[in-house]
Formats: sequence, structure tokens, C-alpha cells
Amino acid sequence: MGDVSVSTSLSFELNTGAKIPAVGLGTWQTSPGVVGDAVKAAIKVGYRHIDCARAYENEKEVGLALKEMFEMNVVKREDMWITSKLRVSDCAPGKVAGALDSTLQDLQLDYIDLYLMHWPNADIPSTWKAMEKLVDTGKVRAIGVSNFSSKKLQDMLAYAIVVPAVNQVERHPVWQQHNLQAFCKSKGIHVSAYSPLGSPGTEWFKVKVKILEHPVLKQVAKELGKTPAQVALRWGVQSGYSVLPKSSSEDRIKENLDVFDWSIPQELFDKFSQIEQVRLLRGDFLANPTRGPFKSLEELWDGEI
Ligand code: A2P
Repeated sequence: MGDVSVSTSLSFELNTGAKIPAVGLGTWQTSPGVVGDAVKAAIKVGYRHIDCARAYENEKEVGLALKEMFEMNVVKREDMWITSKLRVSDCAPGKVAGALDSTLQDLQLDYIDLYLMHWPNADIPSTWKAMEKLVDTGKVRAIGVSNFSSKKLQDMLAYAIVVPAVNQVERHPVWQQHNLQAFCKSKGIHVSAYSPLGSPGTEWFKVKVKILEHPVLKQVAKELGKTPAQVALRWGVQSGYSVLPKSSSEDRIKENLDVFDWSIPQELFDKFSQIEQVRLLRGDFLANPTRGPFKSLEELWDGEI
């Protein structure tokens, strides 16, 4: 897995030919009051990838920050990679185009680089068909999915005209998802990792695991003279994933981008396979035995749990 060919790469090529920067700033759970400063700090230290979603309820503030950065010539629009996501409540064919327009309006952009179906839902085929139509409008450069199991992707490939460019999923040393990645790779679908640090600030996870305090991460960090967060991110990039760490601290935003001019040697990389695995973001809100769309976590993840 410790593929040296990606060890110095700054981006991954998608099945559209576009290149997604390997590190993007996550914006989930970053409050509207602080997300703008985080986006500006990130762009100023060199981030060229911001991961957004309508469900995060902060796209307006992200848009204001982007506008300021473009107007101040800190960066050009065409040099940025902006992802957003179709929220669950907009997953109906008649709502898709309007939902994208609302996101574009909030972000103050003419197009986004990648638009993802945020979660699988009751009517995936018709929602995907509506998303496929967006590509021709020029308002999205690529489309993809998030939180999809191998089975749900396999089902989609039977009717999709546009193969998803990306599947964005929870992925970190404690939830490594090797089978899903192998499946995606075999179909030319890039995997992006959300919660690449294990979302240490998220109190409501049912399983409490402090990934940055895991002995393997601490040991590797000590041996390489890096922080556990950098090790987690480097390990993600080195495994072939783009990673989307969130932070509202300027220092940590900078720290999280410093993962390119060094690598984890194979003997240390191999230690990650010893780590006990558990999914942190289980998606219970979609797996409800009475209201659906999925009756259980088993149905939501098709056994990948
Ligand atoms: P903060 O915003 O105070 O930096 P994830 O991206 O896995 O969801 O993790 C995000 C969480 O990790 C946030 O609580 C963030 O807090 C914290 N975090 C981000 N970068 C680092 C880092 N380099 N070291 C420690 N904690 C970090």
C-alpha cells in the first residue's frame, strides 16, 4: 500500500482527467462565524481545495471568503478546487438543479469542480440521472457520491451513464476501508477521506476513539519528527486518498498541509495494519427501522460496518 509513486504528488487524477488536490480543507462542523477565516488562512498558506456541503449551513460564509481571496488576487478561481454536496432533503430529481443553483449562489461561483450526492437515499437512480444532467450545464465539472458502499456503487454502475468520479467516505487509521478502496480503484473511482484525523472534536460519536493518541501514530510521529495529525494525513495521501482535514486554527491548518516533502517508510507504514478497526460516523439518522430509507446500518452500509 505504501506506493512511493504518489509520495510526492500533490494531486490525484480523476476519471474525468481533472486533478483533485491531495489535501483539502474540510468545513463540516466549522461554524459560520469562523469558517471564513479558516478558508482564508488555508488559501494563504497554499490550500487549493475546499470541501463544502449545503448541509453544513456555512456555504455563504465560505463564498464570502472565496470572493475576498479572488478579489485580492491571492488566488484565481481556476486554480481552486471547490467541492459541494447535494443534501439528503434535496435528493429528488425535481430538486437537484435548484439545490445546485442555491449552492452556487451561496458560494458566489459560476461552477463547482465536484458535486457529490451527500448520502445514499431512497431513490438513488433518479437522483443520479438528475445529477448527470448537471454536467452538460457547465455548472459542475464532475459528479460523484459520498458515503456509498461497494454494493451501492456496483448497483449504480449498472445504470449510470456518468461513472462517479469520487466516493467521499470516512477514512482514517481506525477505519481504513481497504475493500472499498480496492473496489473503487478497480472502477476508476477516486476515494476522498473525510474525518482523516478521526474528528477528535466530535463529542457525539457513539464510539470514542482518540486516533491522534493511538500508540502506532504516536510512535511513527516520534520516529519521523512529525505530529500524529501529519502522520495520519501523510498515511492517507500515501495510500492514494485525498484527505480533507478540518481546522479553525491557523497553525494547525498550516501543519496539516505539510505532508508532501517526506514519507512514511514501509516498515512504519506496515504498522498501520495492526490497528483495530471501527466506523465512527455510523449514519444512524438514515438507518431507521420505521422511517427508512434504510431499515438498519447493515442495509445502509451493505455489511461494510
Ligand atoms: P481545531 O479546529 O481546533 O484545529 P477531522 O478533520 O478528522 O474531522 O478532524 C477535525 C478536528 O481535528 C477538529 O476538532 C480540529 O480542531 C482538530 N485538528 C485539526 N488539525 C489538527 C492537528 N493538526 N492536530 C490536532 N488536532 C487537529
